[in-house]
Parts: sequence; structure tokens; C-alpha cells
Amino acid sequence: MSDIILPTKESYGKDPLALPGTDILKDAPSLNDSYDFVKIKKKLAKKLDAKRYEHSMGVAYTAAALAMAHGGDMIKAYTAGVLHDCAKCLEDKERDELCKKYNVELTKTEIEHPYLIHAKLGAVLAKEKYGVDDAEIASAIRYHTTGRPDMTLLEKIIFSADFIEPGRKPLLCLPLIRSIIFTDLDRAVYLILKQTLIHLEHKGQTIDENSQFACDFYRRYAKEEDL
Ligand SMILES: [Fe+2]
Ligand SMILES: [Fe+2]
Repeated sequence: MSDIILPTKESYGKDPLALPGTDILKDAPSLNDSYDFVKIKKKLAKKLDAKRYEHSMGVAYTAAALAMAHGGDMIKAYTAGVLHDCAKCLEDKERDELCKKYNVELTKTEIEHPYLIHAKLGAVLAKEKYGVDDAEIASAIRYHTTGRPDMTLLEKIIFSADFIEPGRKPLLCLPLIRSIIFTDLDRAVYLILKQTLIHLEHKGQTIDENSQFACDFYRRYAKEEDL
């Protein structure tokens, strides 16, 4: 468990620097020391429509909460949440030009279903346009739509925060997923993947191989009633 020692009744109110556990608090980075979110959000708001911007904030706060619950990096989770859809609302022409400029290689599935491109391109733009140079954040943005087998904690957090954030349409599966995700993230990831594949199949859309492999991988965390 945590090494943080809370102030006692006796010590509270005295010199805060003398409180037990203060060293840890002093050294811990705070959200706004990490990146200039005022600047990032201002820029992002110009690139997203209002609905997508709201969704992104919902994903950011949900991701931060999931990181708190699962011992992840809250600041990286929040940052990846803010930026995960940064390439979502680009015009086709601008999107294609940026892919070319930054050598973003596209798969056959991505070319056939261009909505998938925003994840790969967004991972690059987080660094190039928003100054967030962090491989873990880039990877979480990269896989937020499809998922992949054996995801990192941050990847799982962004993948599932995207699905459960408060602004999402009230899908039938959401109450169960939201009720378990803070204690059983892997099972929740499986349920999200399963629902996503059912939805794509129902719409007759191609399933990205990363999603299929991810679903096969996370099935090991399912309960009997989930299968
Ligand atoms: Fe997205
Ligand atoms: Fe999203």
C-alpha cells in the first residue's frame, strides 16, 4: 500500500513542511506543472467540434480516475485523454497531407475505413502539434480505437475511458462495464472489445485485426456469463 503518512491531529496546522509525508507531496508533479493545458485546450478547441471537445474532456477525467483506481500515471492518463481524438475532426485533405508529411503508414483496413486513421495520426500530432513528447502517451492514443493484445495499463485506460466516459450514449452494456471497471479493468476491456466487435459485425463493417486479436487475448479475463 501507499507510503504516504497523513498528518495527525497533533501535527495538523503546524508548519506544513514539517508534516510527515511532505517530501512525497513536495516532489510529486502536479497536473499543470506537466504541460500547459490552457494552451493545449485552446488549440484543441479550434481543431475539434464542440461535441468532440466535450467528449475529449470526459475521456480525460475518466482516464485520470481510472489511473487513480489502478495505480497508473494520472497525469499521463489525463493528457492522453485530452489529446486522444486530436486528429478526429480534420478535413480529409488536411488529414491525408499530415499523414504524408509525418510518414504515417496506413493499413488496408485504415484506407478502407478512414475513421481509424485519427488514432495513428493523433499519436503523431500529440508530439508535433501539441508538444507532448511521450512514447507511452503516443501509444495509448495510437491504440485507443482498436485496442491490441496485452495492452499497457495506460493503453487500457484510454481505450476504456473512450467507451465509458459520461457523455457516451447510454448503451445497454454500459452500467455493467462502469460498475466493474474500477476493480476489474481486464474484464471490462474484454466486455468493451466484445461489444465493439458485435457492433461492427452488425453494421457489416470490417473488423480491424488488432481488435480481433485483442478480444481473443482478453477473453481469458471474462467470466462465464460474459462469453
Ligand atoms: Fe477516437
Ligand atoms: Fe474518443
